[in-house]
Amino acid sequence: MTITEDTRPALGLPQIQSLAAADMAAVDALIRHRLSSDVVLINQIADHIISAGGKRLRPMLVMLAGHAVGTAGPEHHQLAAIIEFIHTSTLLHDDVVDESSLRRGRSTANALWGNAPSVLVGDFLYSRSFQLMVELDRMPVMQILADTTNRIAEGEVLQLLHVHNPDTDEAAYLRVIERKTAVLFAAGTRLGALASGVDETTQQALYDYGMHLGYAFQIADDVLDYSANAEELGKNLGDDLAEGKATLPLIHAMAHSDDATRERLRSIVQDGDASAMPEVLAAIRATGGLDYSRRRAEEYAEAAERALDGLGDNDAVAALRGLARYAVQRSH
Ligand code: IPE
Ligand code: IPE
Ligand code: MG
Ligand code: MG
Repeated sequence: MTITEDTRPALGLPQIQSLAAADMAAVDALIRHRLSSDVVLINQIADHIISAGGKRLRPMLVMLAGHAVGTAGPEHHQLAAIIEFIHTSTLLHDDVVDESSLRRGRSTANALWGNAPSVLVGDFLYSRSFQLMVELDRMPVMQILADTTNRIAEGEVLQLLHVHNPDTDEAAYLRVIERKTAVLFAAGTRLGALASGVDETTQQALYDYGMHLGYAFQIADDVLDYSANAEELGKNLGDDLAEGKATLPLIHAMAHSDDATRERLRSIVQDGDASAMPEVLAAIRATGGLDYSRRRAEEYAEAAERALDGLGDNDAVAALRGLARYAVQRSH
């Protein structure tokens, strides 16, 4: 399926980044400024993960959503920093749960300092984000962020329940990625619109865009876990299989393999057997699991673009369209 063309072509990533550069510099300065604590270990760990960069996609979405429907200023910068703090805290927690050793091209905090400090500094970043949101003193903002963080926590636990479960199907997988990933994208774009003072319908359009984009982004992430270049990705490949996590490429392979292969894949998921990666890749290849997953990601990206259809035509809208395409075409 091809993505429908709007009047203005979607922007490429370099154009999007230069469009958002001034805002992102302000957001980064705010993140750095608000990161600090007089507890040294907090600064060390927080700085380790924050200064490694990351794509800063979620804060960029807050800013672009704001500009897409109005003007964006300091309140957007604060919201963008809040969203990135929440994201970063989930990464610290996620790498403990997933026992991952590489993140943003660096050793993970859990690999360097251990699990307990990573979880606790993750909690610090979570609660710092709450301090920042209370400063804004807007109940709708707090409501959205309280609901969102609660849903993310549910998603993480739901995912845990599916680990080593070979009966995890596409519907269950989608329920998990909505909560663990998509709701934060949706909150970011909705908050950007809300801070620009637009009506509920327009906020909902940006929310829908963010939600669909989040699905596309996570499915693409799960494809990259099987197909990327680890150095470029900045994360190790195969983490999902090692953990016994059945993501879409493998779910597709289990559903479409012959009986013997399916039984073998099921026991690999049950055991979280990372050494079986060549077998799993062969089964995914034989069933077209990566192409299928990429198509599903593209469908969500198209739905994200469609959600923008009523918004008119400006640079920020074109950038949001561009990010929908980037989410599924990216290599890291
Ligand atoms: C990683 O998110 C977690 C997922 C939802 C897949 P990103 O790929 O946005 O991570 P950074 O912030 O760029 O490192
Ligand atoms: C994303 O899932 C988890 C979060 C929402 C934090 P993954 O476990 O696939 O993320 P990566 O691949 O470790 O970044
Ligand atoms: Mg992980
Ligand atoms: Mg992943």
